Formats: sequence, structure tokens, C-alpha cells
Amino acid sequence: MYIIGGTASKSIAKDLSKSLNIQQVETISKRFPDNEFYLRIVDDIKGEDVIIVQTTYPDSNIVELFLLQDAVRESEANEVTVIIPYFGYARQDTKFKDGEPISAKALARLISMNADKVITVDPHKEHILKFFSVPAFSCSAVEELAKYLNQKGVDMVLAPDKGALNRAKEASKIINCDFDYMEKTRIDGTTIEIKPKSLDSEGKNVAIIDDIVSTGGTMAKSIKELKKYGAKKVFVACTHGLFAGDAIKKLVSAGCNEIISTDTIKGEYSKVKVSPCFSKFFNK
Ligand code: R5P
Repeated sequence: MYIIGGTASKSIAKDLSKSLNIQQVETISKRFPDNEFYLRIVDDIKGEDVIIVQTTYPDSNIVELFLLQDAVRESEANEVTVIIPYFGYARQDTKFKDGEPISAKALARLISMNADKVITVDPHKEHILKFFSVPAFSCSAVEELAKYLNQKGVDMVLAPDKGALNRAKEASKIINCDFDYMEKTRIDGTTIEIKPKSLDSEGKNVAIIDDIVSTGGTMAKSIKELKKYGAKKVFVACTHGLFAGDAIKKLVSAGCNEIISTDTIKGEYSKVKVSPCFSKFFNK
């Protein structure tokens, strides 16, 4: 078995190659002057099972994934497993209005063309796995996030909405602390309402846990509520840290003490590795 990491997910591929004891495929890649991507697989992978790791965000990484998949197929590899650490476009998982694409389905169909199996972590909604025409699986980064939070003296885990309740509950079990949730209503892509809720957060260190932090609006409102109810420290933890626009500024000015995300989207706050979540699929 071999593994190849696209430019968005090189470190995850490296971590997996170590933990699974498999060789990384040697590739040559560059950008042409017009920014188009060039890729060549140097190793002979004919007849080998190959894992490709690539986050589909931002858009340029989607094209790169398609080229990686094609190069692996053209090299006559055997079984191709595509690991998508962050599955971008997953939030447009239905036709909200006539005339819209189902973006998650469009991407899943194209990825399925050159894959035998797909694995992702904390997809926005589990039903998107059905959009792939090959077997698709998901895993959760909650255990890894909770292990990190456990060293921080967290007394309570909070879900910013009911949809994230199971995630908070699971993390609280690992940390051995309380959990609760907020009442959130999404008005549009950038506006949300968080209904005030009587939270027992007085003097507590609280971790708010979610799948995605995008504009930071959801987390910022939750932090403010927690602080209103006397929380001591507030940690923001997520699997996919998009941190779009001035998200970080919003979190900090709301009173966040620490921002934690996994490395599905590499950045300053990627403090938790997701590779152990994927390893489990191959160690069975
Ligand atoms: C929504 O259901 C997700 O779980 C996140 O809460 C949402 O994507 C966060 O978005 P934002 O950071 O823009 O509020």
C-alpha cells in the first residue's frame, strides 16, 4: 500500500504513512505561470493499493484532487481510497431554492469516478456520504479534540446548537464533565440568532465544540452568552477551522481564551491531528 498527500493535506499523509507504516509516493508538482497545476507520479504504483489524501478546500485543491486521482488511475493502481479531511461544499447538501445545484452531490459524483472508497471526518451532515457512488465512510475528531481539552481544566462542554449536542456529550464523557447546548436559529449565511438560555457556567472553564467555524458568528455569540452567565475561561474547539474573514478577531473580542482546530485545514490553530481518526480504518 502507498499513500499520496495533495498539497492541502501533505502533513496528514505523512502522519498516516508513519502510523500505518506505508510508503509515501514520490511526486513532482508545480504551478504553471498561469497557475494551472502540474503533477507527475514518479514511483511505480501499478497493481498497488493507494490512499490519496486531499482536503477539497479552497477550490484549487479540488482540481488538484481530480488530477491526483487521474494520475493514480493512469498509473494502473489497484484499489484507490480517497481520504478527504475537510469535505468543502458539504453545507450545500440540498436544493434550498429552485435552480440551485446540490454542490455536495456534484462533488461526490466527480470524486467517485476515480475512487473505490472514500473516507472523511466530521462531514457537516452524515447523509452526504450517500452522494458518493462508491462506499463512503466518516469518522469523528471529537475524541482527539477532547483529549486536548482534557489538559486545559475544562469543567463543561457546550454545543452551540442542538445539532452539535451529541458531539458535546461525547467530548464531556471523555473529559468527565458536564455538557449543555444553546438554542441557535440560522437566518442566513452570515446571520444567526442565539436564544438566551440559562446556563450554569458561573466560574467554569467552558469548551464550545462544533464541526465548523466559518465566519465565527455562531461561536462569538455563544462566547458572549457564556461570559454573561459568568464563565471563567472559554475555549473554542472545532474539527474544521475555516476562520473566514475576520472570524478570529470576532472570537477574540467576544472573550475567547483559546482557539483550537484540527489540521483538516492547516493553519495557526491546527493544534490537534486527525490522522489517528483515519488510521483506525486501516488497523481493523
Ligand atoms: C452549522 O450547523 C455548523 O455546525 C456551524 O455551526 C457553522 O457552520 C458555523 O458557521 P459560522 O462560524 O459562520 O457561524
